[in-house]
Amino acid sequence: MTTLPPATQHQMNQPILGVPKETREGETRVAMTPDSIKKLAKKGFKFRVERGAGVAAGFPDSDFAIEGVELVEAAAALASDVVIKINRPTSDELARMKRGSLLICMVEPFARDGLMEKLAEAGINAMGMELIPRTSRAQSMDVLSSQANIAGYRAVLEAAARYPRFFPMMMTSAGSAKPARLIVLGAGVAGLQAIGTARRLGCQVEAYDVRAEVKEQILSLGAKFIELDVGEEGTGAGGYAKELSEEAKRRQQQALTEKLKKADIIITTANIPGRKAPVLITEEAVRGMRAGSVIVDMAAATGGNCPLTEAGKTVVKHGVTLIGITQFPTLMPSDSSSFYGRNVFNLLGLMLDDKNPSTLTLKLEDDIIAASLVTLQGQVRFKQ
Ligand SMILES: NC(=O)c1ccc[n+]([C@@H]2O[C@H](COP(=O)([O-])OP(=O)(O)OC[C@H]3O[C@@H](n4cnc5c(N)ncnc54)[C@H](O)[C@@H]3O)[C@@H](O)[C@H]2O)c1
Repeated sequence: MTTLPPATQHQMNQPILGVPKETREGETRVAMTPDSIKKLAKKGFKFRVERGAGVAAGFPDSDFAIEGVELVEAAAALASDVVIKINRPTSDELARMKRGSLLICMVEPFARDGLMEKLAEAGINAMGMELIPRTSRAQSMDVLSSQANIAGYRAVLEAAARYPRFFPMMMTSAGSAKPARLIVLGAGVAGLQAIGTARRLGCQVEAYDVRAEVKEQILSLGAKFIELDVGEEGTGAGGYAKELSEEAKRRQQQALTEKLKKADIIITTANIPGRKAPVLITEEAVRGMRAGSVIVDMAAATGGNCPLTEAGKTVVKHGVTLIGITQFPTLMPSDSSSFYGRNVFNLLGLMLDDKNPSTLTLKLEDDIIAASLVTLQGQVRFKQ
């Protein structure tokens, strides 16, 4: 969590906003799309967009032919006053950014690899999009939600593409098929979207979450709620799940194992921010599933909810396909970029100044700005 320094404001007059092309392997998104850029350009803001930045997301350079937007090379985009990115900068990118600039990206604050210190040393003020509080006021800026929605939808489609049977009930002249039994573990944003998508495709859906308060949401989507008594309350700080005790974890795994053996598809999303993902699907459960079943482990990037998952790969073990895709939003880059861009646009909206158009002010008294600002004027503000 971050703490507020003494009241201070950091103002940028007529800043140039830069949108570099993402360089991380496999990244297809762009941090700002023409629709959001247009709205800010209308207010008088100038942009430098790197040539080709949006191509992989379905936005060719011609889409950025907007008044106030200049197409430039990487160096010029990175040397802007405000740099808007999806992924945290590489050392090369950081070296090209200028002192006093504002960086807005997914900063991965829990990585503990010294990036935060390097940003502070370079005098770059950085905001982590994933640190925006999960409050109602901040909903329109919440990239974790916007990207998780896409991921939850896509996870079900990936499962459907790998599953050798129908999802819906089918009655044809050549015979009939039963609806697939799909279980969702972890009913946060991605899990709820997966439930909705699977229901639309005709699956029989059951879902489980350690936070009992999601029961109503699960039921309202037409799925059954799996009740398990693990012996303790699962809700922790900020509405997130807390890490269970060893005894509760054991009880949870045991109770789930029998249930999961009967599933055709499992979409598992259980995460605890900043921690290794909990194991919910034991090897025994996988062994008990019928051949051809599919598990999409959406927690693959943080260790997986199943120990057999291999991050970034799709593997078959005990006849079950385990999908370990770690970057679902990159598979739907047009919508994920548009959503991300709108989240950034709404965040920038908090920094606008009615009296000084084309000015951005870091209003530290605003809880959203205060919580997401990880470095400011040479200091690291983020605390684990
Ligand atoms: N703006 C808002 O008000 C807003 C927006 C989005 C999310 N939220 C809240 O944030 C919280 C987390 O959402 P998220 O989608 O980012 O979650 P997440 O990605 O951190 O985790 C996914 C789900 O896994 C569940 N989980 C964790 N450990 C588990 C375990 N051992 N067994 C079963 N399930 C387990 C969590 O409870 C969560 O529902 C929720 O309370 C959600 O309602 C609020």
